[in-house]
Amino acid sequence: MKPPYILMCPPDYYGIEYEINPWMSRSKGANVPQAHRQWRNLHDALRGLGVTVELLTPQPGLPDLVFTANAGLIFKERFFSSRFRHEVRARESPYNDTWFAAHGFTVEHLPEDMYFEGAGDALFCGSALFAGYRIRSDVQGHQYLGEVLGIQVLPLELVNPRFYHLDTCFCPLAPGEAIYYPAAFDSYGRKVLQTHVPKLLAVAEPEAHRFGCNAVVVGKTVIHNSNCPQLAADLLSWGYHSEPVELDEFLKAGGSAKCLTLRLDGEEAAGWR
Ligand code: ARG
Repeated sequence: MKPPYILMCPPDYYGIEYEINPWMSRSKGANVPQAHRQWRNLHDALRGLGVTVELLTPQPGLPDLVFTANAGLIFKERFFSSRFRHEVRARESPYNDTWFAAHGFTVEHLPEDMYFEGAGDALFCGSALFAGYRIRSDVQGHQYLGEVLGIQVLPLELVNPRFYHLDTCFCPLAPGEAIYYPAAFDSYGRKVLQTHVPKLLAVAEPEAHRFGCNAVVVGKTVIHNSNCPQLAADLLSWGYHSEPVELDEFLKAGGSAKCLTLRLDGEEAAGWR
């Protein structure tokens, strides 16, 4: 078995330089040394679990490049590059494309008129791709992927601006098992989730607001932001080990553990692995 393989980007140029989601406030700003410490703790926790961590070179003027989950979607050796809704983030794509081309992936692009924000909005749970749309990604982008890859896509409308990417409110643990924040979806979306994921763990509002759902799963270990005691206890009762890492500096940009990582060999729950 090859070790899990994850892409991260150090926060050298991290900051709150624009406001494209309700968490971001330029007046609050970010504490970069603190962000570095927190990022390092996440990095070291992953290394401690035997993960091979690849590093993308940070770039000045790209404060959100740290959120590698948004680079694109991985499917085997194929990298589907994001088409960001906001121009400030679209500038990241050439750096991502160069990295993936240099690391043995086939770089592919969606048609120009479809926004798509990568693994932030598209998560495999078993063989199906759960796809969050409306706030960042377009439903057409996910449908396009479904056709190209010959996979089932389950679109989920995101209705709460604070949970603007699917990975802020939904985290597959294994095929048929996931954690989610019910209030981020409409009743139809909740029904889709309940129909297709037999074991669903609901995260309570205060812990959802700490981005407890934005977790990284490595085997039976779930790394998530600190101060989510109920989630930690629930995970334990489901046979998972929870590993809290404080990532509050990144919450200021609307991100946490999952956003700071991109699983290059497929997330733990992806049926195609
Ligand atoms: N500030 C970034 C944005 O709004 C944060 C991205 C977080 N990434 C994620 N996968 N949820 O685009």
